[in-house]
Parts: sequence; C-alpha cells; structure tokens
Amino acid sequence: MSQNDTKKGNGDVFSSPDRDGFIHRAFMRGAGRSATAIRRRPVIGICNSFSELNPCNAGLRDLGRSVKQGVIAAGGFPLEFPTISLAEPFIRPSTLYLRNLMAIDVEEMITSSPIDAVVLLGGCDKTVPAQLMGAISAGKPAVLVTAGPRATGRLHGEPLTIDDLWTLSDRRRAGDLDDAEWEAVEGSIVPGVGTCNVLGTAVTMALIAETLGMSLPGSSLLPATSGARAALAEETGRRVVELARSGRTPADFVTPAALENAFRVLCAISGSTNAVIHLEAIAGRIGHRIGMRSMDGWSRATPVLAQVRPSGPHLLEDLEEAGGLPAVLKELQPLLHTDALAGTGETWAQILDRVTRQDHPALRSAKDPVFSSGGLALLHGTLAPAGAVLKRSAADPRLLRHRGPAVVFDGVADLNARIDDPALGITEDSVLVLRGAGPVGGPGMPEVGQLPIPRRLLHQGVTDMVRVSDARMSGTATGTVVLHVAPEAAEGGPLALVRDGDPIVLDAGDGRLDLDVDPAELSRRTPAPAAPAPRRGYAALYRRHITQAPEGCDFDFLTATAEPSVDSPPADRF
Ligand code: FES
Repeated sequence: MSQNDTKKGNGDVFSSPDRDGFIHRAFMRGAGRSATAIRRRPVIGICNSFSELNPCNAGLRDLGRSVKQGVIAAGGFPLEFPTISLAEPFIRPSTLYLRNLMAIDVEEMITSSPIDAVVLLGGCDKTVPAQLMGAISAGKPAVLVTAGPRATGRLHGEPLTIDDLWTLSDRRRAGDLDDAEWEAVEGSIVPGVGTCNVLGTAVTMALIAETLGMSLPGSSLLPATSGARAALAEETGRRVVELARSGRTPADFVTPAALENAFRVLCAISGSTNAVIHLEAIAGRIGHRIGMRSMDGWSRATPVLAQVRPSGPHLLEDLEEAGGLPAVLKELQPLLHTDALAGTGETWAQILDRVTRQDHPALRSAKDPVFSSGGLALLHGTLAPAGAVLKRSAADPRLLRHRGPAVVFDGVADLNARIDDPALGITEDSVLVLRGAGPVGGPGMPEVGQLPIPRRLLHQGVTDMVRVSDARMSGTATGTVVLHVAPEAAEGGPLALVRDGDPIVLDAGDGRLDLDVDPAELSRRTPAPAAPAPRRGYAALYRRHITQAPEGCDFDFLTATAEPSVDSPPADRF
C-alpha cells in the first residue's frame, strides 16, 4: 500500500475524496467505525499513558472513556492511542533518563497521525512533563487530564501518605519497626490507583500544567477515582473540540509570562524540586530560557503559602478544600501575569474575579504566609558554578548556614556499601556528598539525593544532615538536601575534585555553595576518568545530546530555536 501524501497528519484526510481518504476510511470501517462517525470533525487523538506497568496511571483507561464521551457529545471523532508510560517505582536507572524518549514518542505520534487536536492523559511524575514537551513541539491544539491523586491511606487510625515512607524506612533501618509492622505499612501506604497523595512531583506538575493553561482550572486535586474527575475528563473532551475549532495551540498558553506564573506557584506550594528541571525543559520547547537568576529572583519575592505534606502537616484534600490552584493564584494575584490564559481560554484575571478565598490552615494568606519568601534556594558558588537547588522550606533551619567536612561517595553502589561504615567517622556536622549521579553520570539523575542518615546517627536521634549531590530527590522527600549540582562530576564539575575532609560551606540565605579548598590545591587534583560513552541505541543518543540540569536535561536537538535568554547569567553567577 503506497502513501502518496507524506504531509504531517490531520483529520481532513478522513473526508478526502482521493485514494488516501478512501484508505483511511476503509481501515477505520474495518475497525468497526461507521461511515458517519468517521466523517465527524474534528478528529481528536487521546494520547493515553495508561499502563499496567504504571499503577499511578492505572485510572487513565477509564478516564479515556470519559474523554471520548465528551468528544462525541461535542461533535468530534475520538481516537485513542498509547504511548510510553514511565512509573517512578519501576523504571531504572531513572524515569528522567526516559522522559525525552517519551516526549519524542508523544510529539511524533501527534504530528504524524491524522488528528486535529489531542487530549493528553498523564499522571506519574515524568509522564506529564514528557507529554507537555511533546505536545508543545507538535504544535497541534492540546489539553491535559491528569490521573489525580490517590486516596490517603490509614494505619492504626492515622493518615498514611507516601512521604511517610522515608521516616518509616529510617525507623526500619534503626530496628524500630518489626516485620509485622513493616508488612502492615506495605499493605496500606498505596491504598489505590492515582498519583502520590502529597505535593510530590506528580501533583506539583499537575498544578503547574493547570497554571500554564494546559488543563482545566480547578482540576489538579480532584481525587483519582472520584466522579468529579470522570466528569472533568468528559468536560475536557468537550473543551478539546472547542480548542480544535479555535486553532489555539500550546504556544498560545505556554508563554514566558505563564512560565513565570508557574514558577511562582511552585514556590508558593513548596512543590517538588524536580519541577525546576521540567519547567526549564518546557520553556526550551517554546524557544525560551528561564535561567536560574530569574528563578532566584522570583523565589525571593514569592511567599510560601501551602502547608501540605511533605512540607507541612496538612493533606492534599485539605488544599483542595481550601480552593486548590485557583485559591493559590488568588493569593498570588498581585505577583502574577493575569493576562496569561487558563485552560478554558479565559484569562486568569477573568477566572480569579470569580474566586473568593476562605481562610484555611492548609493554605495561608499572602499577608500571613508560612515564609515570606524563598521556598526554593537557587545556589551557586565554587562547588556549583552553574547552579544547584535546595528546597529551603523542607530543610532544618539550623542547617541552612553550615560548614562541615565532606564525606564523599562515588555513585549509588558505593553509597549503599559504605554509608553505615563506622570507620568513616561521620558526625552530624559532616556533609554527605554523592557524585556520579547527574544527567550523564546517573544516568538520568536518579532520585538518590536524599542520602540516608547513617544508622549510628539515627540511633542518636539525628534526623537531618546537609547532603550535596548532582542527583535529584523525590518530590515526597525532605531534608537539607542540595541537589542538581552543575556541572555534574561526570562532566568535570568541581564536585569531581572533592575529597573526604574538605570543608563545604552552605549559605542558603546568600545562595552560596562553596568548596573551601585552595584553588592551587584543586588544580593539582585529577578527577576519576569518565566511564566510556555508550556506543549503541538510546543510551548513545542520550549521552551525546543530554543537557545539564540548569538547561532542563532536554536533548539539545529538541528545543525550539531559542533567542538568547534575556537574563543570560553572567559568568560569575550561575
Ligand atoms: Fe507515581 Fe508518585 S510514584 S506519582
């Protein structure tokens, strides 16, 4: 069978009188679609990352059906297709390693298929940024439905959420939890399908997508298995038909102004540090560079408002009860570009006019914030010339200014083998350093930046220490954890030269991370030789084209042609 027309696909082909149209209709009729249904316009792709290998996204099969009902009710013709799905608990070496592969899959399926617009169905951490990146580059109208957070678990009558895993596993390592109790945790901590039930990366990215106008307002926190989420999916089906007819594409929604709004939301909710990387990657797809200097300035001028797990005592459902994202934006309104578009196509100013705020402990007011500014600290210094990130709101305030001797681990295997070795002489003042876990070294920056506290110190009641790495950490984790150090060790960053005992100085207030070693001494040190580059397959493509964390870890050939950033950092800062 020939394919005479090699243009990128759109739904017009189903109505075409030529041979291509005949072939498209014939195959659809063979799949049981009626001749009448096939000629309906617009054709809506439903890009579904449902997978049995991804329990967080397991509800997306049902949500896809609801989207279809909405599309048909609005006069469109829905066609669902699968994509790669990335599950945080299962994919190794890391889901970030495969995020760009998924983005390519999404982009190419949207551009190459005979569809006029698309509904993206994503959920678990990397599936949402991958879908946004792919859809932006594809340039067809697109709207997102996220899987929604799973229910809160219960153990002995108390709420149990996924972030409890970290303290519970420390207690298990300290010998504090017996087998029966550990088994009870395993059976209760993931009580259903849906994304993690705290402000981890998945929910953070859902709120960011909503801020960017890529999903409907008020949608992010609706529970995964609720009727409200099914109704939202149906409504999104109607909305995408409207969007297809309007011709508005993601580039109309995801603008530099909208990205600034999204970053401020990230700071105000004390969201996942992973979002810093994803936002820069998303910006790159519209040819924009946010830059760490802008992020630093916005963080210093944005109050932290949410007190939700893992950075506060309240539950996600409390944040939903407090009004969800529209309530967050209402508090931030004076700081926002409210002419940016929401998912309905209205401006956020129009939406926020209809929002009234009620006091709620899960979401403080801008007049009485949790912190007046600086939820995220963007660091630089002699140990991180191109930048690093610290979630200040999740750190022990006593450690935000700290000087301590380094204890260095070369990769995750070394860390696991030696962290409890008493001969290392680790004290609570030590700075635990992990290298070889960056975009290249990991590869894919595995979420191992929250290095475990040595068992001996856990017994002494130590709950936090300064940790520094070129890795990421789970959005559900907390601690004084400096992440995303760039350049990473595997690319010759100063992290590669640190030795046990070297003084490391953290000053989060000043935004500094320094290695207090004489430069002359450093120049005499040589880093360990780099591992040989992979020669075949995706690993070789990844190694050749992956960028560093401050550039979003996208492949260099996937960003849109970018104008030089308006805030390109000077050489001495970031
Ligand atoms: Fe999938 Fe948290 S592990 S959303």
